[in-house]
Amino acid sequence: MSVLVVYFSFEGNTKSVAETIGQTLHADIVELKTSKNYPTVGIGKYFWGGKSVVFGDKPALTNERINLSHYDTIIIGTPVWAGSFAPPIRSFVNDYQIRNKQIAIFASHGGGGAVKCFAKLKEALPENKFIGEVAYVGPKKNPESLESAAKWAEGLL
Ligand SMILES: Cc1cc2nc3c(=O)[nH]c(=O)nc-3n(C[C@H](O)[C@H](O)[C@H](O)COP(=O)(O)O)c2cc1C
Repeated sequence: MSVLVVYFSFEGNTKSVAETIGQTLHADIVELKTSKNYPTVGIGKYFWGGKSVVFGDKPALTNERINLSHYDTIIIGTPVWAGSFAPPIRSFVNDYQIRNKQIAIFASHGGGGAVKCFAKLKEALPENKFIGEVAYVGPKKNPESLESAAKWAEGLL
């Protein structure tokens, strides 16, 4: 069974979980990159990021085209932005015909939870089978979160 971990991370939290899961499952990992850079400091980062979610932006991805037919399981990771998934994930969902896959999702958030974010991501990916979801607060600085993510990943397959 081939597994792909695909994620976007703005400040490294989702990345730390993605790398843990990827190593645990010996999966391929793709970090989604965009040509558009969001401001990284001050109130601007919340303003532009939040606005981009609200307007349903789909920033162009600069990654090489991924051949999804190689994978039967896709594990998608996102930070929670304005209660939803981050815009590059919307681009990914939009750019690829994702059907008949097993999908698991993980998120990093600032304390507001990921329930709505997961519901929206599932809604954006009909015709797939969801096999798990997990969310962490600031996992980058929390070894327990990363240990938990490794266990979660092991339990998926
Ligand atoms: C634009 C923006 C919007 C955010 N909105 C939320 C939110 O609605 N709820 C929440 O709990 N955290 C929110 N956060 C905090 C991030 O989800 C949190 O810091 C996460 O761990 C960042 O993951 P990353 O380091 O992979 O980018 C937001 C952060 C940014 C930059």
